[in-house]
Amino acid sequence: MLVAKTSLREKTELENKSKEKKAAQLKEFVARFSAGTRASQVQSRLREIERLEPQELKKSNIQRPYIRFYPPEKVSGQTVFKVKDISKSYDENFVFNHLNFEVSRGDKIGLIGNNGKGKTTLIKLLSGILPLDSGFIEIGHQVQIGYFPQNHSEVIDKKSNMTAFDWLKNRREGINDQDIRSILGKMLFSGDDAFKSISHLSGGETARLILGGIMLCNYNVLLLDEPNNHLDLEAVSALSWALEDFKGTVIVASHDRDLLNNATNKIIAFETAKPYIFEGNLEGYLAARATK
Ligand SMILES: Nc1ncnc2c1ncn2[C@@H]1O[C@H](COP(=O)(O)OP(=O)(O)O)[C@@H](O)[C@H]1O
Ligand SMILES: [Mg+2]
Repeated sequence: MLVAKTSLREKTELENKSKEKKAAQLKEFVARFSAGTRASQVQSRLREIERLEPQELKKSNIQRPYIRFYPPEKVSGQTVFKVKDISKSYDENFVFNHLNFEVSRGDKIGLIGNNGKGKTTLIKLLSGILPLDSGFIEIGHQVQIGYFPQNHSEVIDKKSNMTAFDWLKNRREGINDQDIRSILGKMLFSGDDAFKSISHLSGGETARLILGGIMLCNYNVLLLDEPNNHLDLEAVSALSWALEDFKGTVIVASHDRDLLNNATNKIIAFETAKPYIFEGNLEGYLAARATK
C-alpha cells in the first residue's frame, strides 16, 4: 500500500510537470495574440490554461511529521538495564529461560524476530509492566522510560471521549497549552484536528499522538514496541531519523528494515531458542548470519 501511495505521488508530479509545460506554451500564445484579432482562440486557450492548473498533491502524501525526542533533562547512569538470569513463561510455555544481557546508555537496540517470539514480553518486563518469574532486572540510576505499546489501547482508551489535546495535556503536569499545540502541529494535528476525540483517531493518528506524548516528556530511555506499524512511509522515516538523533537509549521492536538499519547499532534477535545479541545494525547481523 505504501509503495502504491508513493508511485501515485510520483505520477501526479510527472503529470503536473507536463501540464506546466503545456500551460506555458498556451500562455505564450495568449501573450502574443491577446491584443489582436484572435480573441476567441485566446479565450479558449485561457480556459484550457485554467484546466491545466496542477492538481493539488494530496495532503497526506506530502505531509511529514516532525518527530524529535528532545534531550533528556537528566541523563541516566552508564548502565541502563542489567538483565540477570531472567525467566518468563505464560502458564507452561517458556518465553525466556535464564536470559542475561546489559543495556548501556546510548545503546540503540533493535529487537527482531517473528511474531510470538517474545519481543513484546521483553519490552514489558523491562518497563516493569509484567512481573518476572525468576531472575532480576537492575534499572540504572535516573532511568526515565518512555513506552510505546504495540497495542495502543494500553495507553489510549478508545472508549473515552477525551480530545487529542486533553490526552497530551494529561501526559505532563504544568505543561502550557502553547507547547501542546506545537507538538500537535508537529504530529500533523492541525486546526480542529487537535480537538478530535481520541475514540475517532485512525491507527496512524493514534501512533502519532503517542509519539507526541513521548516527545513532550524528555525521557532518557525509549522502549518502543513496533511503533512504525500504523505509520506511513514519511512518518516512519521521520521516526527513524529522530531515533538516530536521540541522545538517550533506545530499545525498539520492529520489522522495518530501513528503521533498523538507520536507527540501531545493536540487534537482539529472537530467532533461536535463546535470543542472540549482535553488535551492529540489521544489515551487519544479516551478513554475519549468512556467513555462519
Ligand atoms: N498474556 C499472555 N498470555 C498467554 N500467552 C501469552 C501472553 N502474551 C504473550 N503470550 C505468548 O508469549 C509468546 C511471546 O509473545 P510476544 O511477547 O507477544 O511476542 P512478539 O512480541 O515477539 O510477537 C507468544 O507465544 C504469545 O502467544
Ligand atoms: Mg509484539
